[in-house]
Amino acid sequence: MIKVAPSLLAADYLKIGEDIRRVAEAGADWLHFDVMDGSFVPNISFGPEMCRRAATCGLPVDAHLMVVHPERHIETFAEAGAKIITVHAEAATHLHRLLQQIRGCGCLAGVAMNPATSPECLRYVLGDFDLALVMTVNPGFGGQKLIPACIDKVRAVRGMLDEAGLRDVFVEVDGGVNTQTAPLLTAAGADMLVAGSALYGAEDVKAFIRAVKGN
Ligand code: DX5
Ligand code: ZN
Repeated sequence: MIKVAPSLLAADYLKIGEDIRRVAEAGADWLHFDVMDGSFVPNISFGPEMCRRAATCGLPVDAHLMVVHPERHIETFAEAGAKIITVHAEAATHLHRLLQQIRGCGCLAGVAMNPATSPECLRYVLGDFDLALVMTVNPGFGGQKLIPACIDKVRAVRGMLDEAGLRDVFVEVDGGVNTQTAPLLTAAGADMLVAGSALYGAEDVKAFIRAVKGN
């Protein structure tokens, strides 16, 4: 089953509560929460207090940590109500330890990869994560165009998981997801679609969610 995680980055920050409720009522599955530190990525976004508020909406908060030293922030976001915490392979000195740290907080553990990062970074931690996040744009900003080469990476990641018999691990895609790109991504094996600008920019969010899910 395909699931959708609206990215709060594209919400209207002056009425963010309303924008969260709107997507929850429209059939969103998770709420994607982008944490940017101005160092791992050029942009700065939300911190733990915003996460705490967002978590009261009832949807599981999917925290995507685009930060250096992610080990310093895992407990903070778990305590602020995140249910899924994803760290970047490129920011991890000890990826295996980080994943244990996330699971130790009672959260699902995710590994994110930038467009130029090989999916091989997952091989020796297979079984230690619950979600692989294939970035389909360079992280840092919403509203970018999907990089087509990343679609093959989705296929490679899904293939690696299937070979290892890991059927329950999510393959999440993030960046440039819209009604045109979603079918290509789901055909390649993605089952968790993050969507920011296309979703919040849609006239009918419910219809958008239904369309990208292929219903
Ligand atoms: C980018 C973020 C994304 C972003 C996606 O660094 O990780 O979650 O909000 O935005 P769209 O869907 O507009 O590409
Ligand atoms: Zn993200």
